[in-house]
Amino acid sequence: MNTQTDDEFDQVNPLPPTGRIDIHCHLVPMIDDGCESFEQSIDCVRALRRAGFTGSICTPHVWSDQVAYNTPEHIRAWTAQLQGQLREEGEDYPLWPGGELKLYKGVIDWMKQHGPPTLADSRCVLVDFWVDKWPKWAVPAFDWLLQQRYQPILAHPERLGCVRGLEKHLAELKQMGVWLQGNLRCMTGEEGFEPNRLIRQLLREGQYDFLATDLHRADSLNARLDGLSLAEAEFGQDAIDRLIVDAPRRKIFGK
Ligand SMILES: [Fe+2]
Repeated sequence: MNTQTDDEFDQVNPLPPTGRIDIHCHLVPMIDDGCESFEQSIDCVRALRRAGFTGSICTPHVWSDQVAYNTPEHIRAWTAQLQGQLREEGEDYPLWPGGELKLYKGVIDWMKQHGPPTLADSRCVLVDFWVDKWPKWAVPAFDWLLQQRYQPILAHPERLGCVRGLEKHLAELKQMGVWLQGNLRCMTGEEGFEPNRLIRQLLREGQYDFLATDLHRADSLNARLDGLSLAEAEFGQDAIDRLIVDAPRRKIFGK
């Protein structure tokens, strides 16, 4: 049972002065398809720390049709609870609440009711969607967020299923002011040929604003960290640090 107040939660999570910040992960256990137990969560945190991460924004799936209980208010409480459990085990690894909001036809009404899940109390909102072809409601949903002075971040555009015309649609989103976040695991080829091709193209073109693990369970974390090593080998550590060290600090935390 979480006993921390919001104020206490905020006070115990300052931004560490150095290190990678993971802005997309499913570390909070047993609330989506991410970690299945606290033991998995702590294993992941220890592996992340060894890989040079110094904090993570927890982004459980916010799917109003399947995990309706994952509201911003609940995610905040669960993240604080996990933070407390980690601390009891001697892991002083800062977490911040967030969410990965699935866009769909009725998402604007949902956001009006619940408020979008923002990353670490910023105005940034991480979103995804899963479709076969580019949906008519996508641009209006991004537009609504921007009009409300939120900053939408599209998670893993390289994994979007609607390949046809995708690059043109991503260019339109970038033009609107949407930010893009790539998934490290796509570098390894384990997410399929097209994500493997597209992440390299978008990295070459400088289209990404962030890279992140999107870690789910402990058993796939090594592949995600392998993707980080591949990205550094191919694009250079400085370029990758800009997307996983500097950008989270500057664009989300304003540091
Ligand atoms: Fe995710």
